[in-house]
Amino acid sequence: MQLDVVTLFPEWFEWFSGQRHVANALTHGHELRTLNPREHTSLSGGQVDDTPFGGGAGMVLRVDVMDAALRGFYGVDPVDLRHQRRVLALTPGGRILDDSFVGELAAEPAITLLCGRYEGFDERIVQHFASDAVSVGRYVLAGGELAAMVVMDAVLRKLPGSLGHADSALEESFSAALGGDPEYPHYTRPAEYRGWKVPEVLLSGHHEEIRQWRRARSRERGAAGGGSSLP
Ligand code: 6GU
Repeated sequence: MQLDVVTLFPEWFEWFSGQRHVANALTHGHELRTLNPREHTSLSGGQVDDTPFGGGAGMVLRVDVMDAALRGFYGVDPVDLRHQRRVLALTPGGRILDDSFVGELAAEPAITLLCGRYEGFDERIVQHFASDAVSVGRYVLAGGELAAMVVMDAVLRKLPGSLGHADSALEESFSAALGGDPEYPHYTRPAEYRGWKVPEVLLSGHHEEIRQWRRARSRERGAAGGGSSLP
């Protein structure tokens, strides 16, 4: 998969690309490129954003700057680009990322992620250049960069090559294999620590019982709605 990130902070993604699971994916034929709109702006002083019409706080990424950046990089009108590859505008009001959305994205050959900054994008960027508006939750980040990393992290670990173990992405939280429920609890050595014992069934070697126990714990967590199962 080819992942392109349009960002005013490309150096953030150097760190991200160096993380082991990402680096692994990149050596398995996946690609992560960054594109900085500041290098494509014809405005003086490298200007990329402007004050909002109608007033209000913050700065808004300009549509003409994004147009020039995408056109310069891909050599096509960005209005057409979104029909050639998924172009995600990262914005807190977008479609909330979940496991099925991640799976949908993981099936794409190429994705472009547009990171807004400050107060975000001129709405015409989202309307005319993006195929999707994506959010990673109902809270506001200072910019789309961390959200882009969340999306790419979740997508990359679905792809062959990024995980150490081929099965680890199959039976994980919210996957179809678990009926959309969170993952069951995991334990490792020591089997007892400070009197806290690992559930007996996991030490039994009875694969079918273990499978049933895990499925039941996963269902319980799903029914609890997440996060409410701690005392
Ligand atoms: Cl995609 N961007 C920003 N700035 N904040 C967010 C978000 C995205 N998703 C949740 N909060």
